[in-house]
Amino acid sequence: MTDNIKQVRIVEVGPRDGLQNISSIISTKKKVEYINRLTKSGLPEIEVTSFVSPKWVPQLADSFEVSNSITKDPSITYTALIPNQRGLDRAIDAGYTSIAVLTATSETFSQKNTNCSISDGLKVLKSMVPSWSKSSLRVRGYISTVWHCPYEGAINAKSVLTIIDQLLDIGISEISLGDTIGKATPDEIKRTLETILYRFDASHFAFHMHDTFGHAEENIHVGLEMGITTYDSSAGGLGGCPYAPGASGNVATESVISICESLGIHTGVDKNLLKSAGDYMIGVIDQGVFERA
Ligand code: HMG
Ligand code: MG
Repeated sequence: MTDNIKQVRIVEVGPRDGLQNISSIISTKKKVEYINRLTKSGLPEIEVTSFVSPKWVPQLADSFEVSNSITKDPSITYTALIPNQRGLDRAIDAGYTSIAVLTATSETFSQKNTNCSISDGLKVLKSMVPSWSKSSLRVRGYISTVWHCPYEGAINAKSVLTIIDQLLDIGISEISLGDTIGKATPDEIKRTLETILYRFDASHFAFHMHDTFGHAEENIHVGLEMGITTYDSSAGGLGGCPYAPGASGNVATESVISICESLGIHTGVDKNLLKSAGDYMIGVIDQGVFERA
């Protein structure tokens, strides 16, 4: 199957997923510089920030300022994560035409992350359909805890199918499958994906691998073998523990590019420029840790 894949689409999530976990205060100016550097590397899509409650994620409280200060390249899709109508309105005000929404397979994770049940969260998504349709937004849907939940353990693939059905029903046709805690092994990835692909076309799905236990690269190989062509990743593997910058977090975008290069698959991303953007932010984070010490 890998032989048939000529092109992979990388969604850079470092500015959102990476920075939401960092305990240092990063200035808006430095975030903007980082995103501008990412823009120059040829990525097709960058998840810039989230419009969630600043009480829940203070790290991204400057999402409006960041969004309005970056230099946008019209060939790149800039996306913002939103949890509710308030977030959607803020994202539209900030000029977004692409948003990402979130749900999960685990009730406990849903409660901890969004303070509501899975079904109430899906009702919130449904209630936003008229607004995002009116504004002709492109909508991407995250499903978290597809393989493992930090609170409930291993997840049954059948509950993933139920969520996919509901997202497709409300017109969300790009679904990013999250290994939220980076615990899934290649065998587990394969088994769940087989169950999913028995019913749905691979073109609907992206992989969103965190790399806590070092399985992410192998898991991406499994994804490629099974026809997945969109991968979320973070330059420098940002995220995770604020005192170990560059460790764990999302799979590094450099790694996704290297895997693709080794298989002759085109990504369109300049690895050196990408790496320098990640290095820039890792330096900023290191400096913050140093200043706090
Ligand atoms: P809540 O506390 O139940 O909501 O949070 P609320 O309606 O009671 O609001 C609380 C306060 O937040 C109020 O302010 C609201 O106005 C305000 P107050 O009246 O107290 O001054 N508020 C907002 N402000 C700005 N923008 C908004 C917004 N919404 C409410 N959009 C809520 C519910 C969903 C808002 C909250 O739980 C939340 O923001 N959760 C998001 C948490 C988050 O961002 N988690 C990380 C992203 S998910 C992830 O990383 C996984 C992923 O990467 C995939 C994977 O790895 O698996 C995507
Ligand atoms: Mg994530």
